Amino acid sequence: MSYTIAIDGPAAAGKGTISKAVAAHFGFAHLDTGLLYRAVGACVLLGADPVEAAKSLTSEDLQGDNLRTPEVAQSASKVAVIGEVRAALIEFQRAFARRAGGAVLDGRDIGTVICPEAEAKLFVTASAEVRADRRFAELVQNGMDVSRDTVLADVVERDRRDRERAEAPLVAAQDAVEIDTSNLSIEEAVSRAIQVVEGRKNGI
Ligand code: CDP
Ligand code: CDP
Repeated sequence: MSYTIAIDGPAAAGKGTISKAVAAHFGFAHLDTGLLYRAVGACVLLGADPVEAAKSLTSEDLQGDNLRTPEVAQSASKVAVIGEVRAALIEFQRAFARRAGGAVLDGRDIGTVICPEAEAKLFVTASAEVRADRRFAELVQNGMDVSRDTVLADVVERDRRDRERAEAPLVAAQDAVEIDTSNLSIEEAVSRAIQVVEGRKNGI
């Protein structure tokens, strides 16, 4: 039987961290849908056509540290406004969501467009300052040469582009439960998320 947990929210809010832990807790598979857009964005930086890149994406394209750079993130958010790019990626995400044994998908439009029928929906947020601090720390740890101000500007610009686009904009689904992680440790955020999903399973 399939069971889908949709986790959306702005850049670096903690979606991936929470999704991985929630998936491990319930024994579900996890898909970071941002990687799909990052992979297309990376191809475009190498000169590819975005729609063609989205149509010919393979799971091998989703591997690699090069997808984690701020340049690729910016390119991802630019290709993500293109309707044909989004359309080319829908079926892969829906098939993943329907897999037997349960799935957690995180992104921007999972609860609204990809899986409006998801059994549980979370909208994970945090202040832009906190998110920039966390992403900065992560990039520095991975050996990247970035400034904290550039990271903040990147996060703010991507959020604005994601919220303002016509197709599948970043917005909480009406039936999503919001978790603001600004003042939560990872452990607290994860246990809150698990609590919400357990509540849904019990019909609360
Ligand atoms: O997936 P998303 O971009 O929303 O965020 P993430 O990659 O899960 O989290 C960004 C960074 O924030 C990671 O380095 C996490 O370890 C950290 N984080 C945190 O410090 N506290 C939280 N409550 C959640 C995430
Ligand atoms: O990890 P972070 O939150 O910084 O970004 P990501 O989840 O890897 O997503 C990179 C970009 O892909 C976002 O800024 C969005 O423009 C786009 N994206 C999207 O449009 N829809 C999704 N379901 C996931 C990502």
